[in-house]
Amino acid sequence: MNDKTTHVQDEVLRQSLADPEGFWAHQAEHLHWHRKPSTTLTQSTKTLKDGTTHPEWAWFPDGEISTCYNCVDRHVLAGRGDEPAIYWDSPVTKSKQKITYRQLLEDVEALAGALREEGVKKGDVVMLYMPMIPSALVGILAINRLGAVHSVVFGGFAPNALAQRIDACQPVALLTASCGIEGNKPPTPYRPLVEEAIQLATHKPSRTIIWQRDVSRWAPVDRSQGQRPWQKLVRGAKARGVKAECVPVKGTDPVYIIHTSGTTGSPKGVVRDAGGYAVGLHLSIAYLFNIHGPGDVIFTASDIGWVVGHSYIIYAPLLAGAATVLYEGKPVGTPDASALWRMVEEYKVSALFTAPTALRAIKRDDPDNKHFHRIGERGGLKSLKALFLAGERSEPTIISMYQELLEKHGARDAHVIDNWWSTESGSPMTGRALVPHTGHHRQHATRDHPPIALKPGSAGKPMPGFDIRAVDDEGNEVGRRSMGNIVLATPLPPTAFRTLWREEERFYNGYLKRFRGKWLDTGDSGYVDEEGYVHVMSRNDDVLNVSAHRLSSGGIEQAIACHPSVAECCVVGIPDSLKGQLPFAFVTLSSEPHPASVMPTKELFAEIQDLIRKQVGPIATLGGLIQGKGMIPRTRSGKTLRRVLRELLENGSQGEFKKEVGVPSTVEDRGVVEVARTRVEEYFKEKGATHKAKL
Ligand code: COA
Ligand code: AMP
Repeated sequence: MNDKTTHVQDEVLRQSLADPEGFWAHQAEHLHWHRKPSTTLTQSTKTLKDGTTHPEWAWFPDGEISTCYNCVDRHVLAGRGDEPAIYWDSPVTKSKQKITYRQLLEDVEALAGALREEGVKKGDVVMLYMPMIPSALVGILAINRLGAVHSVVFGGFAPNALAQRIDACQPVALLTASCGIEGNKPPTPYRPLVEEAIQLATHKPSRTIIWQRDVSRWAPVDRSQGQRPWQKLVRGAKARGVKAECVPVKGTDPVYIIHTSGTTGSPKGVVRDAGGYAVGLHLSIAYLFNIHGPGDVIFTASDIGWVVGHSYIIYAPLLAGAATVLYEGKPVGTPDASALWRMVEEYKVSALFTAPTALRAIKRDDPDNKHFHRIGERGGLKSLKALFLAGERSEPTIISMYQELLEKHGARDAHVIDNWWSTESGSPMTGRALVPHTGHHRQHATRDHPPIALKPGSAGKPMPGFDIRAVDDEGNEVGRRSMGNIVLATPLPPTAFRTLWREEERFYNGYLKRFRGKWLDTGDSGYVDEEGYVHVMSRNDDVLNVSAHRLSSGGIEQAIACHPSVAECCVVGIPDSLKGQLPFAFVTLSSEPHPASVMPTKELFAEIQDLIRKQVGPIATLGGLIQGKGMIPRTRSGKTLRRVLRELLENGSQGEFKKEVGVPSTVEDRGVVEVARTRVEEYFKEKGATHKAKL
């Protein structure tokens, strides 16, 4: 600490906000630039077609960089080619693989050469629909190597969702695999999903490159449809000595597009800039995660389809030259609740990053933490310096329990770190930095330099460059500890987005309009306490958070509305003790005047679930449904008041049926809210009765 009151994390934040140019210019020096940026930050005003103006900024605009070079080539050239880059572990297929930086380079440059021969060039978009296998990382890096832009779609999304994303970013090629492995289920063949998606999409990628897995093959590969066997392409490229050199892009060119859920059915294409992303991640992996290079191992138990996977399975560990663990399994069921701890022991993991949901699932299967203690007692968890949690709010009990467990069996001074972030931010916006400095030198957190104190229930304090405030609906800052909308001041720091893919207006309307350009709306509610800790409590919009996955209520509603018996519907989140929230539907049937029972027939429920699973994906499966009429409240302008239904459900799940809910004065008909209230009460009573009958 600098003095009695200022912790180094506070000081680093202060410097990053007081002199963003100086701060990030210094961070940029740690990377290799094909052309060093002469300017760190530019700020201007953007004018939209309708004349609206808003602040705009750019990081390292005239620099030229290759992220792939910084992630792979740089380490090999520096003599670290034999260090491990990737440890792949797939318990269900009983496969493991260690890939060194040199092997990674060989595979990436050959695939990039092959992709170039298939027509991929700088600036093109290439999509990936891949399971958690090393070739997915090789594919991502090869696309990057060519200066092309990748867009990964989570393997749990259905063909419709994939088709929607294909049309949104018009990829020239699609990289996929013959199957995915989900939990301990038999392999899911990808061919029907991918072919249906391409058929549904208006835009047709000219190539589909298929990684054949032994557990389930895609045969025959249909060349007439542009399908190409991945391994054969690479073998051919290697045999002919074909390899591609890194193609640098401008600091402000996109490195990838990642789609995330908004409130409507159409996903938002978050764009990540090459220069800022590399610089910001390079800092955060050292500063927050205490991962510096060879010898450090990070295991991020997420999926490459989510932002956490992009940043901390792939890019940040490789930028640091550390080893990343790629796990094709679940926290439970593959084979049991010891999975994450087994992995920590086997790969000597120093940082484990997962979601609270995963820990809840482990607790459900292993309530006494027997596995943790068993592996801990033989010293298997001594490498573990930190457990990072993000994706949803961590209940204080989880944090405290794991802090105690780590103190018993983890490394000396191990920490549980709740960190808050979003697809838009690209890296944590808050946390407790483990290494309270930002220079070159390797310096692990010690008793003399502890991170800021643990406060279970808070996601820590802002990370460098994030100016976080809690404001009221007019955009005025609220007092410390007062609940408000959590917003960010612009410019956002370098890892964060600056726009949406080809949707400038939507970027403004979705994030800046609400506070007239003064603040960027994160969509979250919470408060900042007197010490500057940020407490993120919930979303303040209609986005759902299921198992730390962000889902759009509008997208699920679109699928339900396809059912011929459904006249209208509204989807909100219902609290769930395992997954945080589950989607829940209020459905008005077109046929009956007013169905007597709130519960749908088994057939109707199954048909609706099927529509959701096929159109959005199995991760959006409903947790329940209420049928009725005249129970979906709207404003006079016709906007569905999802928040009212969500509150009624939340109260109902606590047995509080009469509790007041916040109904805005703009509601068209208050009577509708009372109908919904009655239906919610009937639902929980009927559900309780069924539950008792089953016991
Ligand atoms: N491909 C295909 N299907 C997938 C999938 C994928 N990549 N991911 C999930 N699914 C399917 C599941 O098989 C399941 O299908 P089912 O209804 O037919 O059984 C459905 O989607 C729901 O999956 P999920 O929400 O994962 O629930 P689950 O009961 O299978 O597992 C947990 C529960 C808690 C173990 C699991 O959700 C989990 O590991 N959560 C952690 C999430 C996480 O790490 N998020 C990180 C974001 S930062
Ligand atoms: P995603 O864009 O899918 O990463 O989801 C981002 C959202 O997840 C945030 O806007 C929050 O609502 C929620 N979230 C992520 N991390 C946390 C956290 N540590 N605490 C509370 N909510 C979180």
